[in-house]
Amino acid sequence: MSEPFTLTVNGVEYPVDVDMGRNLLSVIRDEIGLTGTKEGCDDSECGACMVLLDGQPVNSCSYLAWQAQGKSVTTVEGVTPAEGLHPLQKHLLEEGGVQCGFCTPGMIMSASALLDHNPSPSQEDIRIGLSGNLCRCTGYAKILSAVARTASEG
Ligand code: FES
Ligand code: FES
Repeated sequence: MSEPFTLTVNGVEYPVDVDMGRNLLSVIRDEIGLTGTKEGCDDSECGACMVLLDGQPVNSCSYLAWQAQGKSVTTVEGVTPAEGLHPLQKHLLEEGGVQCGFCTPGMIMSASALLDHNPSPSQEDIRIGLSGNLCRCTGYAKILSAVARTASEG
């Protein structure tokens, strides 16, 4: 059964009318049209679908869209400047932390939440902060370096 409600994504209010069983990921991508957030496993395992809900990272594949009513949803589009790149994006590219790129939006969301809450994370803090994000390409070291550089250089 579908119900109309409003989602606030990247500061913009979007009216949606979707089945109450739809997950947040599918509504963000297919109804709102923000396709930066990726679907990997669709089972809370990979973190490709990570978004922020009131600043906290959440796997949007496993979160019902209607439950996000009244919360502030942030996707990778919301942290990407209109021109240029977010420092995390810049450092990920410079460190070689982007190969196929499928994990990258989720990594950016987890890393940005980590740095918002802990601007000077240790290596261990970074590992824990990204522990919900899988990458099949890079071996992680370059991603960890990129996050550490963002913390130290901004
Ligand atoms: S697609 Fe959501 S955790 Fe993998
Ligand atoms: S760059 Fe391919 S999964 Fe991470």
